[in-house]
Amino acid sequence: MTDDELLQRADEAGERAYAPYSRFGVGAAILARNGAVHEGVNVENAAFPLGTCAESGALAAAVAAGCAPGDLEAIAVTASPCGGCRQRLYEFRLDRVVFRRDDGTVATRTPGELLPHTFEL
Ligand code: THU
Repeated sequence: MTDDELLQRADEAGERAYAPYSRFGVGAAILARNGAVHEGVNVENAAFPLGTCAESGALAAAVAAGCAPGDLEAIAVTASPCGGCRQRLYEFRLDRVVFRRDDGTVATRTPGELLPHTFEL
């Protein structure tokens, strides 16, 4: 699967986001090294801080399917990942993060490029 196709999967997932408060639906699609694709969307809540990001949902789906750090090749996201999600992506050692910027252009970066001087245990 190409990165364009992975971003297409993220776009399609984003249509199913639950974002009634921000009206900013986000979709994410992770390509695992075994070829499987795991999708996530943002899920908001009336208690605003409980809302979860699309990347978080996609990572949870990948882990539930048996993936661990090192098993994931790439993630495509329909928006620029927030700071917290950059830390989450770093943990899973993906090769690349493909995301759409506010101006509509698509960028590809490593997790380390997105979050330098990252916290690690
Ligand atoms: N959001 C994501 O799902 N991923 C990001 O990395 C950026 C922000 C969501 C959270 C919230 O539901 C909405 O976008 C507006 O911030």
